[in-house]
This record gives sequence, structure tokens and C-alpha cells, in this order.
Amino acid sequence: MDKLLIEGGTPLSGEVAISGAKNAALPLLCAALLTREPLTLTNLPALNDIDTMLNLLAQMGVRVERETSKVGAGGTASADTPGKSGTATLDASGLDNPVAPYELVKTMRAAVLVLGPLVARCGEARVSLPGGCAIGARPVDQHIKGLTAMGAEVTVEHGYVHAKATGLKGRLKGARLFTDMVTVTGTENLMMAACLADGETVIENAAREPEVVDLANCLVAMGAQISGAGTDVIRIRGVDRLHGATHRIMPDRIETGTYLCAAAATGGQIRLTHTSASYLDAVIDKLMDAGCAIAIEHNALTLKAPLRPTAVSIRTSPYPAFPTDMQAQFMALNTVAEGTAVIRETIFENRFMHAVELIRLGADIKIDGNTAFVTGVPKLDGATVMATDLRASASLVIAGLVARGETLIERIYHLDRGYENLEQKLVALGAKVRRVK
Ligand code: EPZ
Repeated sequence: MDKLLIEGGTPLSGEVAISGAKNAALPLLCAALLTREPLTLTNLPALNDIDTMLNLLAQMGVRVERETSKVGAGGTASADTPGKSGTATLDASGLDNPVAPYELVKTMRAAVLVLGPLVARCGEARVSLPGGCAIGARPVDQHIKGLTAMGAEVTVEHGYVHAKATGLKGRLKGARLFTDMVTVTGTENLMMAACLADGETVIENAAREPEVVDLANCLVAMGAQISGAGTDVIRIRGVDRLHGATHRIMPDRIETGTYLCAAAATGGQIRLTHTSASYLDAVIDKLMDAGCAIAIEHNALTLKAPLRPTAVSIRTSPYPAFPTDMQAQFMALNTVAEGTAVIRETIFENRFMHAVELIRLGADIKIDGNTAFVTGVPKLDGATVMATDLRASASLVIAGLVARGETLIERIYHLDRGYENLEQKLVALGAKVRRVK
């Protein structure tokens, strides 16, 4: 089990390139199921979750060709790094097994994103119910409700969702859908299913995340008829078939925000390239409230941290409000800020697991239900801590970069799911970080 050893106290400085967005790449890979023609995706990040999704698609009969660029986005390739941002071409003409088995789905709940495309393309699918995960139960009832409204017969038994289209020629039927809450992958699943349905589908209360828009742009390039992506009402007019396309995956706004938080917490100055500030307004506002100076360029941004950040309160909410995927990172920043911050997590029911680990590093945090009260302390002290989920791990890395002395983070496989070449990028920014077995 790999661990990350960090010697804290060095302000980050320098420049790194941001990778393609994990949460855009995952649904985009599933979009390949909707056509018999090849779909090529560029700026594909080299992450464990991407490997998992590609393995899942391959066992369904999808042919996958992958090439990685020699020099990665975050620095030079080296022997022990998994590979680099690259390109994948997927060919689902041989799709013959519309099943997503438990063994793969249990390691990555985003695998549920194959459900909509499989029912739309094959007329049926068997997808293991994604287990819960550290941050919450994370049910998929809205995905099922929407497919049912589109005429699918859906049964849930033995831990599997079995969906069968019952419209004519085994197709789904266009319908007016309303999700009870904003759901990102729910919106993505239903939008993909609707592309090949018979008639028009309207998704109300749709997620407005940029990753939903990136997926819609790719689907339109494949011949889908979609309008309203990025708003809370998305209209999809079903077509008989989609064709291949080439699509560049958008930059990862959460990776961008994570490095910005790390620079802010360590009192550094960094420049991030191959990314955009336009999907991070809420995060940039909060970083400026914390006292950071941020310069925005066309596809880069620079952050200069104050000597000591000011505490900033946050309340997570669906896009364009403050993203839940940045909550843990901001809690780490607040542990060393001036003043007390109130952090309210409204999306997931158990997304404060990083708090107890931050307390081990000397943070002053009180949790009351879905609210955390963080009072900044002058210094954190290094310790051994344990990562519990992807963004909690990032929070511990940020705290370790600030803490005096050594911090050892265990179970960093969580990090490898969502941060490409993390050590290389941090070392490029002057951090004293290394992976130990
Ligand atoms: C996506 O997860 C992201 N993952 C998550 O990022 C992100 O935290 C989340 O959206 C919120 O922004 C991917 O895009 C692959 P939801 P998703 O459906 O779609 C409840 C990361 O760190 N809900 O928007 O699974 C749900 O329990 C990951 O990169 C239902 O009750 O999240 C949650 O409380 C973590 N029933 C809320 O809605 C449903 O059918 C929002 O969940 C669906 C969701």
C-alpha cells in the first residue's frame, strides 16, 4: 500500500499544467457505447478511475486503443509514473455484453453511467448497483426513475439494476423528466439515453455542471440534437443513430481549485496552465476573500497568496455555487487561516471524514451535523494520517504541505483515482513530497 511522505513548510511556487477533467472523461467514455463508429477523446487524464472505466467497457466488447503523450501535462514521464494525459479511441461496434459486473462497479460508482447508453443502444442493460462510498449512500433512484419514465422496465434484484426498453423496436420513448434533486451523473445518464429515444425528452431540474455541458457538446458532435445544456432545462430530440467524433476533454476545474488551495495555504505563488478560470467563479471569489491575488489569462491563471489567509465560510451547493468537491480542500486552508470559518456541506451526508484527520495534525475543528466550525491555528504539526476518499486525501496533502515536520498519508490509492501525477506536479512546485511503499 503506497504512502505519501511530505516535509511541510515550503511555500509552493512555479508552474504546472492541469490535466483533463476526470468527471468529464468518465461520462464521455460511456458516450462511445451510443454508436457503432469510433469515438476519439483527447486530453484524457491517466487516472485509476479512467483505467477502471476502460476495463469495464472492454469487457462489454468495446475495442479500446490508447496512446499516451511522451511528456505528461504535469512534467516529464518517469519510470514509475502510470502514464500521461493522452488519447483514447473507442469502437463499440462489437458491443455484445451489456453488463456492468459488481467487481468493477463496486470500485467506482461512476460506472453507473453505462446504464443509460446501454439501454439506449442495446435495448437492455444489467448494471450492478453501485455500493455506497465513504461520503454517503449515493443511491441511483433518480437514474432509475428517469429511465422508467422513458418506458424502460426496470427491476432491481440481487444487487443489479436490470433495465429493458419496451418502446417500438426496443427503443426508449422521449418523456418529460424531473429529478427530485440536482444529480450530475443522473442528468448525464438520462441525457445520453434520450439521444436515441423515440421523440423529445425534456430534463427539468437538470445539473448545470460544466462537465454536463462538455458531454452535451461531444454528443452534438456525434449527431445528437441537444439544447439547454448548462441550464436547468435540457431538451433532447432523439435520432436513429449517432456517428463517431473526436472530442477534447475539458480541463479539470477541481484539480485546478485543489492546487490553488495548496498555494493559498502554503503562502506561495503558482501559475496553472491548460485550464480555465471560467468554471471556478465561486472558488475564486472565496480565495480572493481569503486574501489571495488571482490573475486570470485565456487558459491559465496565477495565484499569489497572502502571508496568512483569512478564514472564509462556505456552503456547498450545485453549480454554479461552491462545489462540494472543493469543500475538503477549503477546510484544510481554513485550519491555518486567521479567524473562524463555518463550512456547511449540503450535498453529501458524510463528507467531513477529513476533519478528524486534520485534527490529528493540530487543527481546531468542531463538527455539528452537516456544519463544521474551523478556527485557524498558527501552525499544524506533521503526523501520520489516513485518506478516506478522493477529496479528503487532497485535503490531507494540503495540510501536510503546511504542517511543520513530516506528514505520512496512508491509503493514497484514493488520490491516484483523481489526481494525475500528483507528486511530480507538487515537486515541480517546490514541495518536498515522495511516494513510499
Ligand atoms: C458527481 O457525483 C461527481 N462524480 C462527484 O464527484 C460530485 O461530488 C457530485 O457529482 C456532486 O457534484 C462524477 O461526476 C463522476 P449527484 P454524482 O448525483 O453524480 C443524491 C469526485 O470527488 N442522489 O450529483 O454521484 C446523492 O446521494 C466525485 O470527483 C440521490 O439521492 O452526485 C447526493 O446527495 C465525488 N439519488 C446528491 O443527490 C440519485 O439518483 C448529489 O449527487 C442521484 C443522486
